[in-house]
Amino acid sequence: MSRQSAEGNAAGAGTGSGADTTWDAGLYDRSFGFVSAFATDMVDLLAPEPGERIVDLGCGTGKLTAAIAARGAEVIGIDGDAAMVQRARALHPHLTFQHADGRDFAIEGHADAVFSNAALHWMKEDPPGVIACVARALRPGGRFVAEMGAYRNVRIITDALYQALAEEGVPAEAVDFPWYFPRTSHYVGLLEDGGFDVTQLRYFARPTPLDDCPNGLADWIDMFGGNFTDAAPPGRVPTVIERTIELTRDRLCPDGRWVTDYTRLRFVAVKVSEG
Ligand SMILES: C[S@@+](CC[C@H](N)C(=O)[O-])C[C@H]1O[C@@H](n2cnc3c(N)ncnc32)[C@H](O)[C@@H]1O
Repeated sequence: MSRQSAEGNAAGAGTGSGADTTWDAGLYDRSFGFVSAFATDMVDLLAPEPGERIVDLGCGTGKLTAAIAARGAEVIGIDGDAAMVQRARALHPHLTFQHADGRDFAIEGHADAVFSNAALHWMKEDPPGVIACVARALRPGGRFVAEMGAYRNVRIITDALYQALAEEGVPAEAVDFPWYFPRTSHYVGLLEDGGFDVTQLRYFARPTPLDDCPNGLADWIDMFGGNFTDAAPPGRVPTVIERTIELTRDRLCPDGRWVTDYTRLRFVAVKVSEG
């Protein structure tokens, strides 16, 4: 998770997935615009209709919120991070953003759809609670359309981080793994238990280039891997990052272009009508 003070520096503190952490929202937009850019077809999958009420859960700086609003829907962007919400409001003053946790948000009335991109895997503390909250926000028959990091997401990177830390004498248990990357079957079970019918589902590998990151994987670790670098012994963060780069370079940067090993879970689920 990025830190407000973390640009070019992996130091910092925070749990990475709660609602009170602070992302570097400017750095996120400058170097990690691919997160929302890769998801523009998610808006097609959502297929917002003019006049529909839609929640964008974990909206970040609001790029996709704005894309949904551009289709004529009434959108509420919700995010657990104050810096993200502040930047979203500044960039899109005509849109509505709420600072709230995905496990505990509420809207007035009901939404026709809840949308979420690249955010559910950060809400690792209580995935069934997040799904329950989404269900409460939706009208019967409303849809939950989302993409999230999936089983084995960034496994090459995290294996290398664990190895680099182990070489510094840090055991794996010292790392608070920041994400929830569920197996497809597990997450489908949670959705069904939470009152949804899953009508579309796709698990896929999406190799993701870091073309806007001047320092390649080091920037990615700086933005998202703070829980790993926080576990490094004092003064050893640069060594851990350099070693991680060394361990992954052959597979993720064979030709001088960093391409991360993302896997995604994308789904459409419909809230079962009561009665
Ligand atoms: C990788 S960003 C994705 C942002 C945006 N959806 C996009 O596509 O660019 C993940 C977002 O999830 C938010 N998030 C993480 N945990 C959260 C929680 N428990 N409740 C609400 N938002 C959360 C973060 O603050 C962050 O803005």
